[in-house]
Amino acid sequence: MEEQTLLYEGKAKRVYATDQEGIVRIQYKDSATAYNGEKKAEIAGKGRLNNEITSLLFLKLSEAGIQSHFIKKISETEQLVKQVKIIPLEVVVRNYAAGSFSKRLGVEEGEKLRRSIVEFYLKDDLLGDPLITDDHVDVLNLATEEEVAELKAAALKINQVLGGFFAEIGVRLIDFKLEFGKDGDGSILLADEISPDTCRLWDMKTQQKLDKDVFRRDLGNLTDAYETILTRLGGQLHV
Ligand code: C5P
Repeated sequence: MEEQTLLYEGKAKRVYATDQEGIVRIQYKDSATAYNGEKKAEIAGKGRLNNEITSLLFLKLSEAGIQSHFIKKISETEQLVKQVKIIPLEVVVRNYAAGSFSKRLGVEEGEKLRRSIVEFYLKDDLLGDPLITDDHVDVLNLATEEEVAELKAAALKINQVLGGFFAEIGVRLIDFKLEFGKDGDGSILLADEISPDTCRLWDMKTQQKLDKDVFRRDLGNLTDAYETILTRLGGQLHV
């Protein structure tokens, strides 16, 4: 393939222009990072696993009536997506206490929350992606009040559907992060990725962690954990 313009490079993905207006190509990298880039590693095959898992999940969401930027997977590590302007918010949904929630609020990891909650974090590496309130979102002009309501409703709907997919394969959806973007019409669309990099996924029977905490906390082999998720979702390990 002829080399196309690199539009953006993040910690885990590159975004390239295509010759089609409004469509970009995402390439998943093998890089693993944690703690805002403080911990880093190259893990062969990780890009392919996240591309496969994200593609499968976006397809399943679309079948359930939840649209996203995803168009199609075009190679082991690449997919075509609709070009959107990313809203600089990390939208986190939590069903069980874990991670920064447990640390900040002193609630034991694994405790079920009385209801699912949505949190917003400012997407800003230099500031360390701080947790922000709806008022911060408003005064920083990150989204209008109506858009905040739309983002929360969309995140909770996705949580319901996604939680269902994972429950079917014996996996508990502890929490996850979403990103949304705006298309040319200004409509809000689910974007970025949904993978074990962006979700906490625990085996329902053994409580084994099948997500990036394996890397963050040195709990074992990340590839094994991600392969477990891919195969349980019905994906193929090797092509
Ligand atoms: O670290 P914390 O507990 O706030 O993370 C909540 C969820 O959001 C986890 O599933 C984590 O993997 C995800 N997350 C992410 N990218 C970030 C921060 C958190 O995917 N920059």
